[in-house]
Amino acid sequence: MKQTVQVFNDLQYLSHFFGQLVATKMQNTPEDQTFSIAFSGGTTPKVVFEYIASHFNDDIDWEKIRVFWSDERCVAPESKESNFRMAKESLLDEVPIPAICFFRIMGEATDPATEAERYSEVVRRHVPALNNIPQFDLLMLGLGDDGHVASIFPGEIGLFSSAKLFEVAEHPQTKQKRITVTGKVINQARTVVFLATGEAKAAMVATVLEKKAGWQKLPAALVHPENGEALWLLDRYAASQLTNSAEL
Ligand code: 6PG
Repeated sequence: MKQTVQVFNDLQYLSHFFGQLVATKMQNTPEDQTFSIAFSGGTTPKVVFEYIASHFNDDIDWEKIRVFWSDERCVAPESKESNFRMAKESLLDEVPIPAICFFRIMGEATDPATEAERYSEVVRRHVPALNNIPQFDLLMLGLGDDGHVASIFPGEIGLFSSAKLFEVAEHPQTKQKRITVTGKVINQARTVVFLATGEAKAAMVATVLEKKAGWQKLPAALVHPENGEALWLLDRYAASQLTNSAEL
């Protein structure tokens, strides 16, 4: 697995880099294929989506992209907590993407386990597989202060190695149910992009990237796309505790 870290002076440069990354990878996608991307929730992805909407509207073929989600809170799509609502308002409503090109997790489903199964089938149907595991072209991940990725929290780290594609998780503090992608899919992606900004992430970024005390217990530390690459996009605050000698 190739792992690289890019540090940016501010969110605008980071967002531009991400937009350029998607646009370039899509240009390299054969005419007869689609480009499958899994969106993440979080404050950094929101800023990135808004930037893409205003700067990359014409650079991305919105009929060629297929948008999915890495995770979703078990709330209605109109809820302020919905990752779908965040992406819809910051990006999907602002670009000419046909509704058939995005596939939301139905957070409003009465039974999250049934929805996790349903969504697993949706992903199987629309995302080309490698060794029978759907392979996203690009999968976005935020980094929680506790080292969670998607909605796999340290207290449920076993979900990362689930045999399923999507699982039901629970937020450790709020007990809110979530539906989350598992490590089986994360580590199959061609490119996993971590997006982490702000001082609050600095300790966790350093712990994961430099394998500091306790790193093995963190879901973020289990991300190793065997057939692809992991790309960390950080601002200088989130990168502030990295040492130069880190083997990244
Ligand atoms: C979610 C996200 C979650 C998020 C991290 C980082 O549903 O909230 O999937 O994994 O990416 O918690 O969020 P921030 O970037 O807002 O700190």
